[in-house]
Amino acid sequence: SDSGYNAWLSYPVLPHGSLYDQYVKWCGTVKVTEENETIQAALQEWRQGIESMLDIKVSSESEGLCIAIGTFQGGNAVIRSVFAEDTIAKVGSEGFAIRTRAEAGCIAIGGSTPAGVLHGVFHLLRLIGSLSPIEQLDEVVNPVNGLRMINHWDNVDGSVERGYAGRSFFYENNRIVDDLERIRDYARLMSSAGINAISINNVNVHEWETLFISPAYLPDVSRIAGVFRVYGIRLFLSVNFAGPMHEGELETADPLDPGVRQWWKNKAAEIYEAIPDFGGFVVKADSENRPGPFTYGRDHADGANMLAEALESFGGIVIWRCFVYNCKQDWRDRKTDRARAAYDHFKPLDGKFNDNVILQIKNGPMDFQVREPVSPLFGALERTNQVIEFQIAQEYTGQQRHVCYLVPQWKEVMEFNTHAKGETSLVKHIVDGSLWGNRYSGIAAVSNVGNNKNWTGHLLAQANLYGFGRLAWNPDLSAEEIASEWISLTFGTDPVVSGTISRILLDSWNIYESYTAPLGVGWMINPEHHYGPNVDGYEYSQWGTYHYADHQGIGVDRTVQTGTGYSAQYIGSNAEHYDSLEDCPDELLLFFHHVPYTHVLHSGKTVIQHIYDAHFEGAERAAELLTMWSGLKERLTEDLYVQVEDRLQEQAGHAKEWRDQINSYFYRKSGIEDINMRSIY
Ligand code: GCU
Repeated sequence: SDSGYNAWLSYPVLPHGSLYDQYVKWCGTVKVTEENETIQAALQEWRQGIESMLDIKVSSESEGLCIAIGTFQGGNAVIRSVFAEDTIAKVGSEGFAIRTRAEAGCIAIGGSTPAGVLHGVFHLLRLIGSLSPIEQLDEVVNPVNGLRMINHWDNVDGSVERGYAGRSFFYENNRIVDDLERIRDYARLMSSAGINAISINNVNVHEWETLFISPAYLPDVSRIAGVFRVYGIRLFLSVNFAGPMHEGELETADPLDPGVRQWWKNKAAEIYEAIPDFGGFVVKADSENRPGPFTYGRDHADGANMLAEALESFGGIVIWRCFVYNCKQDWRDRKTDRARAAYDHFKPLDGKFNDNVILQIKNGPMDFQVREPVSPLFGALERTNQVIEFQIAQEYTGQQRHVCYLVPQWKEVMEFNTHAKGETSLVKHIVDGSLWGNRYSGIAAVSNVGNNKNWTGHLLAQANLYGFGRLAWNPDLSAEEIASEWISLTFGTDPVVSGTISRILLDSWNIYESYTAPLGVGWMINPEHHYGPNVDGYEYSQWGTYHYADHQGIGVDRTVQTGTGYSAQYIGSNAEHYDSLEDCPDELLLFFHHVPYTHVLHSGKTVIQHIYDAHFEGAERAAELLTMWSGLKERLTEDLYVQVEDRLQEQAGHAKEWRDQINSYFYRKSGIEDINMRSIY
């Protein structure tokens, strides 16, 4: 067994039957005429996939039915004959057309670019791997989102900030690795899931990484870009806003200083010399002690536009993060509200950014908690490019020791109606650029991979990585569909396996939420590493992350009348519902309101009884996940089975720890008994 290394490109052998026969009939011969390295990679993928799934040899010589792959203008006569002009016109730069044409004796995959062709090949392999018929294919598929990006938080010393799957596979001992084989496999995985942009270093750009845009590192960065390029992926770098001062070159990083502006222009020229298709910069500025324009009395637009100007003529973009808040707050101060910060900082700047700047906004106003409302910045920026940022890394959702399939959470965010422009103004239509007609738009997420054999530590966490890519490509896919694809491609098509893993995945977010911080209040974790329960871990800290539990009640008052006024950052009925104690949805109650433990939820339970019930049930359901998994013992390779079993065992135990700490804490604070008299300590 490969221990999960091949992930969703494992190409498990398919069962014999009529579909299998259909595949064998069409797939054994492949016609390719182009030498382009991306087309050749597609060909190689096709061979590998088909030979493994069908256990046949793929030939490019034989007569009879075949698969034809190539660009429309690439000189492959079959491709030209199968697709009409109006079909070709519908295919975007990364999309493809696919058509089964019995008269021509082939299934043709055509793209306007080699990357599109590659996506088409991955698409057909995915159809086959999930046992879909292929004899009537006729569609044009384009990605919905322009930018489909992964952000790495890897440091050049080999560590990974918030990494839960080992060390970096990009770096070792302050150098970029020599052997790029694993990076190539990573690019294949990412490309097959639909990713087209990867930033390779941490948003917290430390000393050495500041030099990534200098001759010390650029040649090596360019080697990685070369691997990505084959798979249709553009490389981005996180940069240090104070870069110009780093080696004493300049005495300021003031974005309005002509010397500083020139410095960045020179840098851009140097970078594009080494990497002609360089994507651009990711910037964390004036956030959590990172340098930024505030030092010089300038604003975010001044900072971002300076960088944007340097990159513009090369086609590069600046991705400027909105994760900006006061991280030195006084916990006694109840007026300052971290949740307000991104909106308060960026809403006034709407329309001031150059059009090759994109603001990157975290999905929620805080920081990737298991439950948060959608960031009110979505809907507030009408004249600014924006991408949403999710966290695939499970920093606050079990750190890849607990299973927590996050696609349902992301779906919920994407389907949220902001009411920003008429009745229906969904986040997914802001993010894909259609609502406001943006030049750039899309979706980004913090990676969850490392050098663990299976990439993600927890094998089931691969579903989040795959799922993120698929969702970025097409946000209309359901969490169920994505799970089911991932399961077939990873474990094969046994319906029992599929049924069980699908249930585990789809229940997991709800289970995790049940035994951790209740009703949207968040945090309650150990400081710094963020793993495991600690109800007051952040209560008296400077980070703006409080629950305000006392003997009477709990929650953060973010209402307009008596609280921080955060609820008013939403539009129309959203603002009204969140502000109202009666209408606020249960799962977010403590995010918006401070209530007594005896407050009755829509569910009919009191807050305190809800806490007890959710935690007892959550821990029990966590234990059931292990039982469900045990049913697969005979159906999976031992290695894969055992990996997950180990993690689920740990989760079951750790969920009890969560249960008991949370329940005991609130029992002791409130003095209110559990009506079912279960053990609380
Ligand atoms: C979180 C995380 C940090 C990270 C930050 C960010 O706060 O804990 O490690 O740097 O997000 O997104 O910039």
